[in-house]
Amino acid sequence: MNVVLGMASLLPPTPTATATVQQHYCYYYNLHNSQIVAICCFSPAHKKLLPITSKRKSRRGLIRCNAFFDDVATGLLELENAPYFQGLSETQRWWIVAFGGLVWIYFTARPGVLIGAIDAYLLAPLQLALDSFSGRRNLKRTDFLVGEKLGEGSFGIVYSGVLLPKNLNDSPADQKRPRRPPPRSALVPQSQSKDKVILKKVKVEIKGAREFGDFEEWFNYRLARAAPETCAEFLGSFVADKTNSQFTKGGKWLVWKFEGDLTLGDYMKDRNFPSNLESLMFGRVLRGADSSKRNALIIKQVMRQIITSLKKIHDTGIVHRDIKPDNLVVTKRGRIKLIDFGAATDLRIGKNYVPNKTLLDPYYCPPELYVLPEETPSPPPEPIAALLSPILWQLNSPDLFDMYSAGIVLLQMAIPSLRSAAALRNFNLEIKSCGYDLKKWRDYTRLRPDFQILDSESGRGWDLATKLISERGYLRRGRLSAAAALRHPYFLLGGDQAAAVLSKLSLDRK
Ligand SMILES: Nc1ncnc2c1ncn2[C@@H]1O[C@H](COP(=O)(O)OP(=O)(O)O)[C@@H](O)[C@H]1O
Ligand SMILES: [Mg+2]
Repeated sequence: MNVVLGMASLLPPTPTATATVQQHYCYYYNLHNSQIVAICCFSPAHKKLLPITSKRKSRRGLIRCNAFFDDVATGLLELENAPYFQGLSETQRWWIVAFGGLVWIYFTARPGVLIGAIDAYLLAPLQLALDSFSGRRNLKRTDFLVGEKLGEGSFGIVYSGVLLPKNLNDSPADQKRPRRPPPRSALVPQSQSKDKVILKKVKVEIKGAREFGDFEEWFNYRLARAAPETCAEFLGSFVADKTNSQFTKGGKWLVWKFEGDLTLGDYMKDRNFPSNLESLMFGRVLRGADSSKRNALIIKQVMRQIITSLKKIHDTGIVHRDIKPDNLVVTKRGRIKLIDFGAATDLRIGKNYVPNKTLLDPYYCPPELYVLPEETPSPPPEPIAALLSPILWQLNSPDLFDMYSAGIVLLQMAIPSLRSAAALRNFNLEIKSCGYDLKKWRDYTRLRPDFQILDSESGRGWDLATKLISERGYLRRGRLSAAAALRHPYFLLGGDQAAAVLSKLSLDRK
């Protein structure tokens, strides 16, 4: 008789369920008539297969059903036969399996030591090699024309700019005589949006700025690999080779793709906010709802995007620490992208454990100020920081830092009288004296806030705001994480998604 072995396992059989029995037994098939002729079980005591019963069954159905278990069983068989497992008692084997399971859980728990190591030692060098090969890392001063200044922080100045066409730099004639770039006025208006860039000049002369620039670059490369859709596309960096106009020899510059003309902060300064985002968010003006309902839908759509992006960056182990309307660029497709990772932190690499205080915006900062308590010792070397990071993450839930800032953004979007800088400063004074309890603040405030949007839909928006703007409670938790916020009824029963789908359908039909 022509017989083939179907599957094998060393686990003891469970005689009650046929499905389980199939997982733990070996089947012998007759290849001529595709029928099972015997079922055997491996007996560790006898060190051989013992026949249990015989059974007739369709071969194809059985193989399909057990394909997965075949693999598992084969793996276990190999493990059992491995030299380091031989001579061990059953209890010792279970200890090893349990220990391996715990190690696996530890290394894959947030912020993800394993994935961080794969990223640092495999993906990052791979990205570097690919970028160098494709020329993406070979940016230089003469590739850019620097335009107007957009902002200035403690460690950097941000400019708009244009990526000059390659042939302008590469032509042999250009190399012979000094190139004089066309005047900015001639280039900028004609430049396609794909040529527009954002350049950040690191103030290398200021203490700590160089390190800050390196951190920001590191975080941008890391996110370009792990969650590119959440942030502005990073094009790379260069060091100026010569002093010329805004360039200073040896000065470092970071470059991003220009993602959009306005930030959420710019939109919020307009009296028409949030209606001025309506057609960007939904592709058209929403019909069939009164204006306050439409405004509530727009704000919800913006919040959903912000918190979804936060969830993604927190999943990679990064905390942004500077979430505010000015650091959220609105693209012309209605996407909201995070920018400005200069104050970000990643516990695995020990970068920015306790950042320079001037990097944190006091109006959007949670009461705890830092992601780790100040008494946390300064970061150990990178591999040790990585090893300790799951413990630090569990103890401190650093991601909740960004969630407080997201709560302030929600409050400002929903309550018009809180949008100005002066009102936000007063809000911060009031909330502090209310012990960061938003419900208390509601009875206490003199800012005359209009709660209409937050109170609509049975007050779900208000409830979410109270769970974001709060002190850390027991065990430094007590504030919603990004994943928990996305499960809040405010988002779960959201009309904004229905509106987005409907508007997409109506656009598709056109
Ligand atoms: N990728 C980008 N696309 C469009 N605008 C940007 C981009 N990056 C920055 N900006 C603009 O530049 C401003 C300052 O940039 P940011 O990185 O926040 O630096 P700063 O440290 O000065 O806050 C932003 O508020 C925004 O208006
Ligand atoms: Mg900024």
